[in-house]
Amino acid sequence: MPQVNVVILAAGQGKRMRSRLPKVLHPLAGRPLIAHVIAAARALKPARICVVYGHGGEQVPQAVKAADLTFVKQQSQLGTGHALAQALPHLGSAGLTLVLYGDVPLIGEETLAAMIAGGGDRLTLLTAELDDPTGYGRIVRNRRGTLQAIVEEKDASSTQRAIREVNTGAVALPTARLAGWLAKIRSRNAQREYYLTDVTALALADRVAVTTVRARTSWEALGVNSREQLARLERIYQRESAARLMDAGVTLADPLRLDVRGALSCGADVRIDVNCVFEGQVKLADQVVVGANCVIGDAEIGRGTRIEPFTLIDGARIGAGCRIGPYARIRPGTRLAEEVHVGNFVEMKAAEIGARSKANHLSYVGDAAVGRDVNIGAGTITCNYDGANKHRTVIEDDVHIGSDVQLVAPVTVAKGATVGAGTTVWKNTPPGGLVINAKTQEHRPGWKRPRKKRTGEAED
Ligand code: UD1
Ligand code: CA
Repeated sequence: MPQVNVVILAAGQGKRMRSRLPKVLHPLAGRPLIAHVIAAARALKPARICVVYGHGGEQVPQAVKAADLTFVKQQSQLGTGHALAQALPHLGSAGLTLVLYGDVPLIGEETLAAMIAGGGDRLTLLTAELDDPTGYGRIVRNRRGTLQAIVEEKDASSTQRAIREVNTGAVALPTARLAGWLAKIRSRNAQREYYLTDVTALALADRVAVTTVRARTSWEALGVNSREQLARLERIYQRESAARLMDAGVTLADPLRLDVRGALSCGADVRIDVNCVFEGQVKLADQVVVGANCVIGDAEIGRGTRIEPFTLIDGARIGAGCRIGPYARIRPGTRLAEEVHVGNFVEMKAAEIGARSKANHLSYVGDAAVGRDVNIGAGTITCNYDGANKHRTVIEDDVHIGSDVQLVAPVTVAKGATVGAGTTVWKNTPPGGLVINAKTQEHRPGWKRPRKKRTGEAED
């Protein structure tokens, strides 16, 4: 493969988004549009990747900065040709320069590889045939099919607008010729912009071969100019990601009702019910079952574990054979060993829970180390916050905690102890035995409930 530079154009505002956020930072599948383009570029292992930014100040570099990216500022957005010119000082004069648009996020690495495979002294355009070409530059060919020019929609005649072959924006050019061509581009067009697309006519005039490559699928070429298009691309992305999961052996109750915003990897025979959202890096081991309406982010879930409906998991490692939910919330830093049960309306945060321990109902377990075979009764709360600092609760192996118990941290309940219902544990307890607070109960016979007064009713 020839030496390749990649330049990603991302300086535009994206007026049609009607947003303060630069368009290329709007998320698709949980990542900025431009992050998808950068990932496709990296797959080519180019000599360098330049990102041309401008609108919205330093937001773009801040959002995606990385050691392998060179950021070049385009002070005013005078067009795609002007944008590429800003990167010239970083491109040298060898090999090919591949230009990508930061708002065309689904472009695939195979398609890009096909564009640069030809190498040499030629210009290669990536085109696509669209049912609705509205808004795109049209590829104008002569009767023999030879490419003549790219005409922007705003500059096109009605016959040209009927053309369905469009410019995707991706173009590979001989680096050595760039400076010469870009200097010749003029802004005599409907938008008063320096169009990069004009290099095609310049290449033809210089008798440089112009070839086109068709995108492998038509959706790869789709650009995002409006929120409506962004939503459409999100659906395409999700449909493709669901298809890949099913290919890999995952059962999806409905591939149209799953959202993966990050990387989801699944073992064999994983089943996922409807309306689940996966964010960041999620790993589901073999035979994991995820019920309807779960949101799972940055988590590892062990073999055979069942996540029941309406469960939220974020930043946690869950062992094999566990049962979580329905309606559980597992927060960052939680580590569950095998066969742990976490039931409805139980919240856990930074909790380490040993094998076979259970908290089945209505509890808060935070900043806690819980041993194995522990039973935490309904309504148990680790009082970890004194209003200023957080403290740890330690519950050793084989402890049984009754319902409605408060554990005032820092506190340790030693091995084998039983804590009676309604106890407030504020001192460390020795192993074994029963822990209770002295409480009294009395009964008042003949006691009358207060009655509500009615208007006009005489007082007794
Ligand atoms: C552009 C193409 C059009 C193609 C379409 C594909 C031109 C003149 N037109 O049109 O042929 O069909 O993309 O999606 O190139 N940008 C800058 N600096 C600028 C202007 C734009 O960096 O001064 C960046 C934008 O941030 C964006 C990309 O270039 O990522 C494309 O710009 P945009 O204004 O969206 O061009 P289109 O009208 O979509
Ligand atoms: Ca665009």
